[in-house]
Amino acid sequence: MLKKKKGLMLSLTVASSILLATACSSSTTSSTASSSKDSGGSLPAVGATIYKFDDNFMSYVRRSMEDEAKGKVNLMLNDSQNDQSKQMEQVDTLIAKGAKSLAINLVDPKSAQTIIDKAKPKNIPVIFFNKEPDASVMKGYDKAYYVGTTSSESGILQGEMIAKAWEANKDKWDKNHDGVLQYVLLKGEPGHPDAEARTKYVIDTLKSKGIKVQELAMDTAMWDATKATEKMDAWLAKYSDKIEFVIANNDGMALGAIASLEKAGYFTNDKYMPVVGVDAIPEALDMIDKGKMVGTVLNDAKNQGKATIDLAINAANGKDVLAGTNWKLDDSKAVRVPYVIVTKDNIQVGRDAYK
Ligand code: GAL
Ligand code: CA
Repeated sequence: MLKKKKGLMLSLTVASSILLATACSSSTTSSTASSSKDSGGSLPAVGATIYKFDDNFMSYVRRSMEDEAKGKVNLMLNDSQNDQSKQMEQVDTLIAKGAKSLAINLVDPKSAQTIIDKAKPKNIPVIFFNKEPDASVMKGYDKAYYVGTTSSESGILQGEMIAKAWEANKDKWDKNHDGVLQYVLLKGEPGHPDAEARTKYVIDTLKSKGIKVQELAMDTAMWDATKATEKMDAWLAKYSDKIEFVIANNDGMALGAIASLEKAGYFTNDKYMPVVGVDAIPEALDMIDKGKMVGTVLNDAKNQGKATIDLAINAANGKDVLAGTNWKLDDSKAVRVPYVIVTKDNIQVGRDAYK
């Protein structure tokens, strides 16, 4: 039961968040699973995996899933510890334990077919979430669904936010006065649909708005704050004042970059660097409040967690996955929760979504 509490406290600093999340990690079923087993042996079982508990954003999705499942299903939730073969074993065990539906956050987005190969012969519905499988794989099983977002939307909105802020501040931010925005970009996990789409669409959007851009450096920091700090340290050593903007595929990496920038004397006196992320996790909203982040794009953890469990519960009960809900499926059997630009002006939108 401590595990859940710890998950709730992701607030102090990035470093402590990561430590806490690591402390929460467990490869076995969570507290929710055992407690709901105690109280409700008759509840249908839903088997779930999270690609790794030690991921800022996913810890909020997980919390939402646990809240939504309470009293309705026996949620057997596993930490796949970023190991696809471990996740495969977990899925085998969940099926053996009688899971009536599966909610799967893949480690490797390309592994959806292998999960379907396990579930389909037993007619077990699968709700994939957060890492979108290929459309062709989804088509191959009528009981496969997806809950997430439209990945490209986050890149487009991030680009729009940057364009607006750049236009308003370029007298100061265009340090070398060449009319070009020199950026570094921290990318999420390569091959992850969100990371690929955000990286492409943020730049495409800037260009389409007539903003001239130059990439000084781009590399993956695997969604991770600590890795992002290391990257940013190296880029500052190499490019120092030439960097005019830090674009991060998620807030975890934006926070990591800010930690590096602070060490280098940024955000004191007149030394400033615009930084943007995606997710709107509470730690990032605090940075926006303090003026250390230009903004972020809300990735609605609460509603994605809720939709995942709503569909999984219906599926476990043999009902239409949308029964009694307001969710809608698109042509690819996906529930897509919208992204929203969050800056200081509408920071409450982010706060409300992560309450
Ligand atoms: C993204 C999110 C990242 C990371 C990733 C994990 O949607 O923005 O922060 O959590 O999912 O798959
Ligand atoms: Ca410039």
